[in-house]
Amino acid sequence: MDVHEIPTPAPVIQWPAFEANLAAMSAARPGTSLRPHVKAHKCTSIAAAQAERGHTAFTCATPGEMLGMIDAGLGDDLLLANETVDPRRLAALAARQDDASITVAIDSDATLAAAALAGIRRCLVDVDVGLPRCGCAPSDAGRLADAARSAGLEVRGVMGYEGHLMMVPEHGDRRRQVSDAMAALAGAHAEVGGDIVSAGGTGTFDMYDGTTVTELQAGSYALMDTQYATLGLPFHHALTILGTVIAVKDGYAVADVGLKALGMDHGNPTIAWEGTAVWFCSDEHVTFGTGELQFTVGEHVQVLPAHVDPTMAMHEIAYVVEGDTVVDEWPIDLRGWS
Ligand SMILES: Cc1ncc(COP(=O)(O)O)c(C=O)c1O
Repeated sequence: MDVHEIPTPAPVIQWPAFEANLAAMSAARPGTSLRPHVKAHKCTSIAAAQAERGHTAFTCATPGEMLGMIDAGLGDDLLLANETVDPRRLAALAARQDDASITVAIDSDATLAAAALAGIRRCLVDVDVGLPRCGCAPSDAGRLADAARSAGLEVRGVMGYEGHLMMVPEHGDRRRQVSDAMAALAGAHAEVGGDIVSAGGTGTFDMYDGTTVTELQAGSYALMDTQYATLGLPFHHALTILGTVIAVKDGYAVADVGLKALGMDHGNPTIAWEGTAVWFCSDEHVTFGTGELQFTVGEHVQVLPAHVDPTMAMHEIAYVVEGDTVVDEWPIDLRGWS
């Protein structure tokens, strides 16, 4: 198929940039020192490409992602790095423990009790390292690990996601703050024990020398987005949402890539034509100023998302392209809430 035949709006992955991103991260975090987060792409074909490079342990955000990874034969070592108390979903995971290695994050007596009741065998203590989200207080981690062991679970170690630091603009500043957060995680790990200290993301991929962190949970690096691009990381835009221009007016044009095709929590997307400026998005439309440029109805535009994770979750198929040729179609098969 030619790229011009792709029905829009649609995610398009530039194969050379994708390959380069995977290679750059593998060089920095080889093998299982990277535990790629699948929530950033929700696509087992991408996970398989990551596994081919030696990253055979994965991070997931939902039980459904875990089950999809097992079904795809990628269940060597799966971490649910998110809390769940849903007995049905935990039981569905527990039922697959003979086919796959399943570890779930716990951060409270309630999440531990739910995991134990469902028959989950392995856990990791999720520690609050400063992001106001999940995670127990570092001072409570040892007690929770003891309680988990008493309930019969294996405790593999700790995780602490310092998401509040991913976008600290200056590299040295970011590194210093990450190092403080990781000192809190190391303190918790000393009380918890186990082999795993799991942390970080794309924005902090190079910040763990001299810390006890054993693995990085990055996901966005594979496809990238305009927010992360502001940090000057060695990863490039591999994902665009292909759109079609459906109206051309005096000074602006409209394409069919709107709120229902883009994660917008990090702001407006960018049209990949210098001289254009996005004015706003509505449900099915992006309206952009055309400056000196001429557009015609029916032509394609490439739209760069500001946040890759929710963008991918809105689509069913990603088209992999090299030049003008579609070389593959990858189902975004980990989407949904089942
Ligand atoms: C638990 C967890 N780990 C790691 C990440 C890192 O992902 P990214 O590579 O997008 O920074 C995230 C992103 O939100 C996350 O929630």
